[in-house]
Amino acid sequence: MPHDFMPGLAGVPAATSSISDVDGQRGVLEYRGIKVEELCSKSSYLETAYLLLFGHLPTEAEFRQWTSDVMHHRRVKFRIVDLLKCLPEQGHPMDALQAAVAALGMFYPGRNVKDVGNNYWSAVRLVAKLPTIVAAWARIRHGDDYIPPRDDLGFSENFLYMLTEAVPLPLWNKVFDDCLILHAEHTMNASTFAGLVTASTLADPYTVVASSIGALKGPLHGGANEEVIQMLKEIGSADRAKGYVEEKLRAKQKLMGFGHRVYKVKDPRATVLQALCRRLFMECGSSPFYEIALEIERVAGDTLSSKGIYPNVDFYSGIIYDKMGIDTDLFTPLFAMARVSGWLAHWLEQLRENKLFRPDQIYSGEHNRSYVPIAQR
Ligand code: ACO
Repeated sequence: MPHDFMPGLAGVPAATSSISDVDGQRGVLEYRGIKVEELCSKSSYLETAYLLLFGHLPTEAEFRQWTSDVMHHRRVKFRIVDLLKCLPEQGHPMDALQAAVAALGMFYPGRNVKDVGNNYWSAVRLVAKLPTIVAAWARIRHGDDYIPPRDDLGFSENFLYMLTEAVPLPLWNKVFDDCLILHAEHTMNASTFAGLVTASTLADPYTVVASSIGALKGPLHGGANEEVIQMLKEIGSADRAKGYVEEKLRAKQKLMGFGHRVYKVKDPRATVLQALCRRLFMECGSSPFYEIALEIERVAGDTLSSKGIYPNVDFYSGIIYDKMGIDTDLFTPLFAMARVSGWLAHWLEQLRENKLFRPDQIYSGEHNRSYVPIAQR
């Protein structure tokens, strides 16, 4: 049956889902019906991951079990560490992460996705091991040893410890954990869809997550957080922001960290991240990038708000990570290690009623052409 062609599949539903919902007109994002703002103030990343994956907030016993399962699967095989050591140190961390996640699947051969028990352990492993891989690569590429996880540290605390070799301040741990909650899920976006297309072939979850990581990398999606910091560096000081923004918009170029396919008001995640920036800066001193970002938002607002273009999640997240001393090219891997719970929740949901993705196309080429021998072309 012919359908209208929608470039970018804009507005075309690709699934029925009960995992998350966005109200792009009011700026509301809910995970399983709970607003992200409430999750940030009351929950933790690990509890939110459970909520996304299994559809309900865990009881005390369920949460104890889930936490213990994740904690005990944070280590990675030494061969994964060896694999990271073989990669070129100037390579992008998203490429290293994608390669390591694809390789991870080779160590866990139970790939029958109809086995519910096995799927649970795959989800545990992926949620648990992505931070270890990200932190390991961040160190190995600088010639430093990989730091194994510490059993006495919580999820975010342990990640920052594996990255920096220091147990973070409680406020840093809280701010970072909130960042992970805000990045954990976001309905049918490019990386989730990429993973679901792969999943629809009944490929194993390591391959599914590797597909999603590839889609997240691009600058129109998760890669925008890196580009935002490059832009702030290029501007250099708040008094130069106005000229920069005007010049960009005059040249019809996009401002990174602005705009969204669904939100026509300010992304609620950007609002929470901005509050986190302020909290962090009160304790640790401000960041020159924050002043520039505020000025960009003010100046751009005059022109872009009438088109429904506002800061998105990528606009303020990088400023927080930068203040924590995290390398700019690690920002998108941080996004991936949070979003893996959302990707896996969609994977589990789709498996209940899987149908192979096989869209149609509108052929715009010729028919009945003759083959011309090479000497006559
Ligand atoms: N800066 C300036 N103008 C913009 C921006 C922006 N960031 N985003 C959109 N516009 C303008 C376009 O120039 C276009 O204007 P026109 O109608 O006058 O030609 C109009 O808004 C529509 O733009 P599209 O790119 O067609 O809109 P789409 O819905 O596809 O955009 C997207 C969504 C890709 C996110 C876009 O806003 C963008 O490229 N933003 C910058 C990159 C970015 O921050 N990406 C992260 C998104 S959040 C995430 O993935 C986690």
